[in-house]
Amino acid sequence: MSTSHSRVAKRVADLPPSGIRKFFELVERMPDAISLAIGEPDFTTPWRGRESAIYSLEKGHTHYTPTRGLQELRDAVASYLERRFGLSYHPDREVLITVGAAEAIDLALRAILNPGEAVLIPQPCFVSYPPCTVLAGGVPLPVPTRVEHDFQVQVSDLEAACDDRARALLMCYPNNPTGAVMDREALEGVMRWAEQNDLIVIADEIYAELHYDGGHVSAAALPGARDRTVLIGGFSKAWAMTGWRLGFAAGPQDLIGGMAKVHAYTVMCAPTMAQEAALDVLYGCDGEVAAMRREYDQRRRVIVRRLRDMGLDCFEPKGAFYAFPSIARTGLTSEQFAERLLQEEKVAVVPGTAFGECGEGFVRCSYATSLPTLEEGMARMARFVARAAG
Ligand SMILES: Cc1ncc(COP(=O)(O)O)c(C=O)c1O
Repeated sequence: MSTSHSRVAKRVADLPPSGIRKFFELVERMPDAISLAIGEPDFTTPWRGRESAIYSLEKGHTHYTPTRGLQELRDAVASYLERRFGLSYHPDREVLITVGAAEAIDLALRAILNPGEAVLIPQPCFVSYPPCTVLAGGVPLPVPTRVEHDFQVQVSDLEAACDDRARALLMCYPNNPTGAVMDREALEGVMRWAEQNDLIVIADEIYAELHYDGGHVSAAALPGARDRTVLIGGFSKAWAMTGWRLGFAAGPQDLIGGMAKVHAYTVMCAPTMAQEAALDVLYGCDGEVAAMRREYDQRRRVIVRRLRDMGLDCFEPKGAFYAFPSIARTGLTSEQFAERLLQEEKVAVVPGTAFGECGEGFVRCSYATSLPTLEEGMARMARFVARAAG
């Protein structure tokens, strides 16, 4: 075989490496480093969920489930969405259990896009959105969001980025990496604009339960929005279940049907014991979720105060578990800041540019870590900022 050309498909070879991975790898080689780079809860899954998975295995439930997920879990997800966000979905036709929200994002894009169609993606955004769009044969259209607007996407910016290839809008609130949430009025404006432009909205609401400023408003719950929206959620964040790989999508029958088809041909079904565990945490762990939310909220206040005390402008995050301070006053780029902070003070944060070009001038600090670790990380970062800015 000729070695003159890559054996990896061009669209894969051309994907940029993840800007997050690079920092994880560096941290792994530094045992005394403090990582504020990771987007995963430091909590363990509530015992009720773990116990339920153990029983599932004891009972010998080691087989496939139906493609769309266990009937009881689809019923539970539908009633959870009704109870928490006032949404109504038919569990048989409009709910799909997936291998994490990550799979649901990929399925939605693959089910919706024809070759060359485009997806509007407000940035900074979760790292998988542009690559998954490309892998689905689509074209990402980045839409910048700005700190002056509390990182809420503006209709004028959507308008400027949109062209006649646009088929969908993929957005995430509460947001990773900024911690921004959309207020109802702004969200209504965006959803009205999507309707006028006949776009499908993929709403990644995996952080819906981690909202610290009143309640989460789901994009799908707004007037006229339900039938053009694929709502994505998952268990990884609020229920501290990253390793279980379980998420869900809810939406109109045709779109969920298309996604279920791709899901059937690729993963067949989500893991059985994880589905049984999810069923129990959905019904029985509101107290644990509320306790974790309170703890994140306390850390959120601490990290924002510390960042501001060291002289960095820090937008107040209202959801998820990330702070996104501006590092402009150090005169460093996001990459330089993150690399030097790691080398000099052994603290890992993620450069804002890992989440899109408009993340330049910011870094993402995760507060999904214990308060003492967070305090130590902030003390080291304050030393670094004083040196860099001085
Ligand atoms: C915005 C966003 N969407 C989706 C995911 C993927 O979540 P899951 O573990 O459910 O696949 C993440 C994980 O970091 C995320 O931050």
